[in-house]
Amino acid sequence: MADHLSRRKFLKGASAGAAGLSLAAKPASFLVGQTTPANQRLALLGGKPVRTEPFPAWPVIENNDRKAWSEILESRRWSRLGGRYVAEFEKSWAEKLGARYVLATASGTSALATALNALEVGPGDEVIVPPYTFVATVNVVLLQHALPVFVDTDRETSQIDARKIEAAITGRTRAVLPVHLGGSVADMDTILKVTRPRSIPVVEDACQSHLAEWRHKKVASIGDMGCFSFQASKNLNCSEGGALVTNNPELMRISRSFHNAGRYYSVDADQNVVSSRGPGFSYERNGDNRRLTEFQGVLLLTQLARLEEQARRREQNAAYLKQLLKEIPGVTPQRIYDGCTRHAYHIFMCRYDSEAFGGLPRRRFLQAMRAEGIRCSGGYRPLNKEPFLKATLESRAFRSIYSARQLAELEERNHCPENDKLCQEALSFSQTTLLGTRSDLDQIVEAIRKIHGQAAELARAPLSYDDPLA
Ligand SMILES: Cc1ncc(COP(=O)(O)O)c(C=O)c1O
Repeated sequence: MADHLSRRKFLKGASAGAAGLSLAAKPASFLVGQTTPANQRLALLGGKPVRTEPFPAWPVIENNDRKAWSEILESRRWSRLGGRYVAEFEKSWAEKLGARYVLATASGTSALATALNALEVGPGDEVIVPPYTFVATVNVVLLQHALPVFVDTDRETSQIDARKIEAAITGRTRAVLPVHLGGSVADMDTILKVTRPRSIPVVEDACQSHLAEWRHKKVASIGDMGCFSFQASKNLNCSEGGALVTNNPELMRISRSFHNAGRYYSVDADQNVVSSRGPGFSYERNGDNRRLTEFQGVLLLTQLARLEEQARRREQNAAYLKQLLKEIPGVTPQRIYDGCTRHAYHIFMCRYDSEAFGGLPRRRFLQAMRAEGIRCSGGYRPLNKEPFLKATLESRAFRSIYSARQLAELEERNHCPENDKLCQEALSFSQTTLLGTRSDLDQIVEAIRKIHGQAAELARAPLSYDDPLA
């Protein structure tokens, strides 16, 4: 009820009366005649911040986490080899996803690399990736000595523009690696429509999308393989960790062995592991050590028990925030595809229109938000333009695999103009922003309103951009 009233009060205050605005562009009805706090001086200009309280702490820790952690410590069974909790988590996560197999790994990056390895992505291959994502999506392709082919972003959704994938496919395309960015979902209908007839495997990077759904099916179980991250910031986390998901027994068999030094596993008819030991020190393949520890496995089990309730809270709060933002021109939540039946809200993604703020640059807007006590950041930079990418492609290994002409052609293909624009205008709020109360969200909107009201003054103020996050 309190939340309901505070929203009504905000909207009423926002639309009543009249006041002089310094904004040159698009003065909005909601700004007219505000009382506090929009008329109060901005914190960045010496006024009081809208918010001084921190947002909810992450991760949530309760007594069962402490108990579980010390149980592992005392048991001396710290490794999954001989332990039981990593295996228990794999089973629970597979059930939750409605998938046949889950393999826990040391990180999301290692889950993705294990998936590409199982699909035999290697030198001479191309993998289609989005340019708007965390760097790991691209790193794993380069680690296989394959070429990342960037397909431009759908600027309205921040997802890979699936309509442009077909044109990027060549005879060398070995896999498509869409990312379900921010907890939303890439357009899986279009992705499968172009990949299935060509038998091109799809690896879903679901590292940010725990419990998200496409047409009521959990992500990571829709393509051939899917990967999650359980790194500290993620909606399900154990400090560092990841998981690979597949319904394909052969891909699971290869991945399981690869992640455990290439060792043999004995499995039953359902691919359940009977033993992780082959005869003596004998190996099925070349491999790596990407195992999760029992400490992490047990924390994932305790955190998993809270995931559904937290996911619901984020969904409700996101719906409320979206409603509030409708009243403000210039901060627009990203569109969600119709097929996305559940959004995980790892990031609440928006776009900033500087014109609606009288030309106030995004950087200064972000500084002002932070000064008001609201965490907000500018999203990703264009990965296709990263200097490290060029350096990697010019390295000895890549030059020995690819001709200068091939590499020059790749550079030509990898332009992503829509993504360039998105990288200038994206705004993001983290998942913990959505875990609190409605008054937290009211304050976010109050801060935006305040900045909007004093945008012209803020743009003129002699401030330095020394905020590293802006
Ligand atoms: C989209 C995406 N892919 C891959 C990863 C890699 O996961 P990790 O950090 O667990 O290696 C992340 C994690 O930040 C991510 O956000």
